[in-house]
Amino acid sequence: MSLKITVIGTGYLGATHAAAMAELGFEVLALDIVPEKIDLLRRGEVPMYEPGLRELLRRHVAGIEGATGRLRFTMDWAEVAEFGDVHFVCVNTPQKYGEYAADMSYVDAAVASLAPHLTRPVLVVGKSTVPVGSAERLAAYLAEHAPAGADAELAWNPEFLREGFAVEDTLHPDRIVVGVRSERAEKVLREVYATPVGEGSPFVVTDFPTAELVKTAANSFLATKISFINAMAEVCEAAGGDVARLAEAIGHDDRIGRKYLRAGIGFGGGCLPKDIRAFMARAGELGADQALTFLREIDSINMRRRGQMVEMARETLGGSFLGRRVAVLGAAFKPDSDDVRDSPALNVAGQIHLQGGQVTVYDPKGMDNARRLFPTLGYADSALGAVRGADVVLHLTEWREFRELDPAALGEVASTRVLLDGRNALDPQVWRRAGWTYRAMGRPTA
Ligand code: UDX
Repeated sequence: MSLKITVIGTGYLGATHAAAMAELGFEVLALDIVPEKIDLLRRGEVPMYEPGLRELLRRHVAGIEGATGRLRFTMDWAEVAEFGDVHFVCVNTPQKYGEYAADMSYVDAAVASLAPHLTRPVLVVGKSTVPVGSAERLAAYLAEHAPAGADAELAWNPEFLREGFAVEDTLHPDRIVVGVRSERAEKVLREVYATPVGEGSPFVVTDFPTAELVKTAANSFLATKISFINAMAEVCEAAGGDVARLAEAIGHDDRIGRKYLRAGIGFGGGCLPKDIRAFMARAGELGADQALTFLREIDSINMRRRGQMVEMARETLGGSFLGRRVAVLGAAFKPDSDDVRDSPALNVAGQIHLQGGQVTVYDPKGMDNARRLFPTLGYADSALGAVRGADVVLHLTEWREFRELDPAALGEVASTRVLLDGRNALDPQVWRRAGWTYRAMGRPTA
């Protein structure tokens, strides 16, 4: 008989994982403790913008016409325990308020709520990004608090999905990493992932700490790559070089590669910034802080980018934002997402507003979230609306919609035709031909 799967937590990770498991043919029961989320999901609606996720859910949510009915939602822990052979823990681990460390309270609460209901052999699989050592602690907790004792086994299976590509990354992962302590656990996870493994996804089996570390190591490497190219952008600014050409040229070396070398206002979002900080905090607890002091520099290069964008805009306006109109294109931390958590774009918009600028923001999908976070900024319902009357235009999230804008039409409504490209994603020639002054970060002469 096929394994029955539960998914605990229905955010980006959990909602996508639950729908993907149903797509792979499993019966799935997903739990969340927020009633509004469950109501929405039961109707086949998604609480966030993620391309393809709504369609995937609607193919499987029970009660939706034409759906397979393999995916259901609940708020009842006993029902989850009764139903599942494999329980995936997909709750978030945000940065603790006022500290670098990760807040483990949601993971701990999920395991504590589930454990007392586990009366038969099951596999609990952690997917959340956690400080190394958590799996060992949670395994001991389960063995002690589950009526099934050691038969309520734990495994760790980090998730590498990117927002905007969550569905694709979950259905066709570039690798599957499982930290296990028994052959049984490995066998169960091989069964769960039989389809992607059959299609060629590498299946890497490790111990607990390595599985936990793979995730934080990967995100640290990615953050380092971005801050490396942004450091080169700073040098290019000073030396009159062009960081975009530099990235292209070093990227021809296979060992370096071209991906993830786009200089600009840096990384944000719900993962990279908090993950590198939590990693530093954990290394400190383990007495290995020296190994990760470079991440402090990665973080400060990244945060400096936002300030440099603000400076560039202020210089353009002759030294002050007072009474000047600034158009901001982009609010989400990256395109194809409505996520504004630690968004570099909104951070820049907020700083300019605080310095007296009249900021008008437009984003294709992130408007509601941006308004909630920064209610005092101005908002327009189109790029044209944001640019109307602007003394300077800042391109801060590289949506396709912005690449397809007509610079001539925007030039008609702008007060001054100055464009600052904070993502190095627009074509300078096209904008200059329409009479714009184009300036990008790390390319003073481009
Ligand atoms: C990231 C990891 O890529 C993913 O594997 C992990 O599971 C979660 O964290 P995500 O946060 O969705 O995913 O976004 P990603 O596409 O990696 O971008 C992160 C940030 O870096 C964005 O703000 C993006 O604009 C920025 N970025 C990315 C750059 O500034 N330059 C680049 O070249 C690439």
